[in-house]
Amino acid sequence: MAKKEELFPVTATWKDGILRQIGGESLEELVEEHGTPLYIYDALTFKQGYETLCSLLEKFYAGPSEIAYASKAYISQKFAGKLAALGASVDVVSAGELLMVVNAGIPGEKIHLHGNNKSEKEIRMAIEYRIESIVVDSLDELWFVEKIASGLDSTPKIWLRINPDIYVETHTAIQTGHEVSKFGIPIKNGEAARAIQIALHSKTVRLTGIHIHLGSQIFDANRYRKALNTILSLCDHVGWTPQTISPGGGWGVPYTEAIPVTDPVDWISEVCNSIVKWRGNAINRLPQLVIEPGRCLIARAGVALYRVGATKELVDGTHIAALDGGMADNPRPGLYGAEYMAELIGSAVGRRLVGTRLVGRYCESGDELIHQTPLPELVRGDLIAIPVSGAYQLSMASNYNLTSRPCVLWLDNGTVEVLHKREEIDSSSWWTGD
Ligand SMILES: Cc1ncc(COP(=O)(O)O)c(C=O)c1O
Repeated sequence: MAKKEELFPVTATWKDGILRQIGGESLEELVEEHGTPLYIYDALTFKQGYETLCSLLEKFYAGPSEIAYASKAYISQKFAGKLAALGASVDVVSAGELLMVVNAGIPGEKIHLHGNNKSEKEIRMAIEYRIESIVVDSLDELWFVEKIASGLDSTPKIWLRINPDIYVETHTAIQTGHEVSKFGIPIKNGEAARAIQIALHSKTVRLTGIHIHLGSQIFDANRYRKALNTILSLCDHVGWTPQTISPGGGWGVPYTEAIPVTDPVDWISEVCNSIVKWRGNAINRLPQLVIEPGRCLIARAGVALYRVGATKELVDGTHIAALDGGMADNPRPGLYGAEYMAELIGSAVGRRLVGTRLVGRYCESGDELIHQTPLPELVRGDLIAIPVSGAYQLSMASNYNLTSRPCVLWLDNGTVEVLHKREEIDSSSWWTGD
């Protein structure tokens, strides 16, 4: 099972049992200066995770390979600049994400556009920026992209996203590779083979790759082998060797001490070995391999800091502590029943350990971050840290109840950079209507 230290960023330090610093910065001082809720990202945790994946690809795959960070996990203009500096590729799913990474200096040949319903504008932008691949999600979309491209000079590169009909054990909302998922082109009814033939013979698009994405928070590497074998058989069936193969992202991470630590070596070795088994290990025979990790790169780097406000004890004895954030900055517990752990930043000496429900400040009973966890009895003013908060929280954050999205910091080797200022909701265009 994961140890508490393995849930926090690699730079987290404790003194006398109290979480004191991350990225060399005092948490109390950061909160003093920037207020709460406050999200912090630890640069070293992210960079180490990225480098680990690079070296695993190098170890297990002799052919060309690439890491395309899944922007949907978390993106901002400044963070995209850091991805550009690392030389990472990115997967984007909207005009907004595309524009953001382009503005941050990520070149077109390092960008892939996903999505099950891309707009004409998004497809035109992708063509204009000459991105590496538009990942076509259906036969309908293939015809749509062909139609748009037919009026233009350039021939966009596309991949086909195939639905391999593989079930993965994760929340149903984040399963994406099973037969009745809205994503991908099905194999069983012959559509996938047909799409490959149409795309291979197309005069307006150039088919370069094949893609699958099974879902998110996946812990079983065998699922990737099964799914890859399925699409590689499809390639054999139609007599096509793709230039690029992408098994997507989805590798899981522990959020609490009840879940074992996951080692990406299981995922990467399984993916690489499946392709090597198919093509052999000679460099010139291996297609390019593109992995698309989001959560496993950025989740552990992020920590959410909240201040406790009102506390109460219910008639059944439950202790409630209300935080100054909640479902608007972290919708995951509400959406997926996601579980977290929390740490008091301060002394627990002299406090009883009580079963505590950490609720948010929003007007909905489902606004809970942790349903039940033992914590030293909390009082107004306490500071709480929730680790593994880097993925699918801020990127899904809202202004529910007309509250502001939080301040976000990047802590890198003694420097503190503001990635996002706390949002000024009363001067936003949603407020003014302009
Ligand atoms: C196509 C695609 N690739 C990659 C990812 C990243 O998944 P994860 O963050 O679980 O690695 C997603 C997320 O759902 C996705 O839809």
